[in-house]
Amino acid sequence: MEKLRVAIIGCGRISEKHFKSVIKSEYASLVACCDIKTDRARNAASLYNCRSYSDYRTLLSEEKPDVVQICLPHYLHSEVSVAAMESGSHVLCEKPMDINYQKAEWATKRAKELGRLYGIISQCRYNPTSQFVKKALESGKAGKILSVTSTLTWARDDLYYSGSDWKGTWDKEGGGVIIDQAIHSIDLANWLIGSEVKDVAATIAVQGHSKIQVEDTACGLICYENGVRYGFYCMNNCCCNEPIEIKFFCENAKIILSYDWAKIAWKDGSEEVLDLTDRMDKSLGDKSYWGVSHIEQINQFYRSVLGLEELEISAEEALKTHALICKIYEKAGIAK
Ligand SMILES: NC(=O)c1ccc[n+]([C@@H]2O[C@H](COP(=O)([O-])OP(=O)(O)OC[C@H]3O[C@@H](n4cnc5c(N)ncnc54)[C@H](O)[C@@H]3O)[C@@H](O)[C@H]2O)c1
Repeated sequence: MEKLRVAIIGCGRISEKHFKSVIKSEYASLVACCDIKTDRARNAASLYNCRSYSDYRTLLSEEKPDVVQICLPHYLHSEVSVAAMESGSHVLCEKPMDINYQKAEWATKRAKELGRLYGIISQCRYNPTSQFVKKALESGKAGKILSVTSTLTWARDDLYYSGSDWKGTWDKEGGGVIIDQAIHSIDLANWLIGSEVKDVAATIAVQGHSKIQVEDTACGLICYENGVRYGFYCMNNCCCNEPIEIKFFCENAKIILSYDWAKIAWKDGSEEVLDLTDRMDKSLGDKSYWGVSHIEQINQFYRSVLGLEELEISAEEALKTHALICKIYEKAGIAK
């Protein structure tokens, strides 16, 4: 089987996960990378043995990659995705889709028109614990979901924000803890609830940072057409990084989903636990509170491009969570 020729655009913090995934994949080989900060592109190219570029348009026209993986600031996601698709590549872009709804919808439409696969990273869906909970909910044994809660309490200090010139701004990051961090917990809950959103109430605030424009604290309630009420709380000004915790209160069980463990407490007092505390793959680098499942999703994308499987997290699928994220901001008073 001929391997897919892959290029990575954006060589900052998250790119390591993408580089290591390509290197480990049986389906792909890395041909090039790009960053406007030339030292970052050169360092990555020498570490992972590929060509480096500082202009993504030059990379696209000279390399014509089969797949482009995008690890750029949020406001560039749709624009660069569309440029890559127009030059012939399939695109796997980091979350979120963009900083507003309109551009994300436009890129999704362009992918369809051009006949390209367009995937959006939501790697936590591939955590074995998420899959375990999905199966349990789908089995019907737990009964209907009645209510859901999620918490995300992470630490993103001033050093984190000063490390990326676009973070902490409305025009480039497009928001703070919701669009950047809690998107993981909100996506998991929204995906597992699996119903249409009926109404949203939310409030946001910046409480623990002095140098950023965007929110570092948020809470809200999402009401679904199937009657589920989902309450979320998130803060990235916590003193430490705790694993996400999502609770599903169902007719016959309470289900708790975390990163490396999940528990189903049945009404009759019995319990089923999936405990992977010692078994999660840490070889891609460890940020154990948000999952190391990039490689699963990236390989799924490659198999889809090769025609071996259907794409699971397509742009259409990701647009559901993106619409919800934008609605949360709107309800909190920020036009999207
Ligand atoms: N899935 C996850 O769990 C996860 C975790 C962290 C970050 N991310 C996402 O990854 C993306 C990147 O985040 P990060 O933390 O790596 O940011 P970063 O600031 O560390 O990296 C972004 C890189 O893009 C480069 N860049 C900016 N404009 C460019 C352009 N026009 N052409 C080429 N390069 C350009 C910057 O120089 C920088 O090196 C964001 O969308 C973020 O939300 C996802």
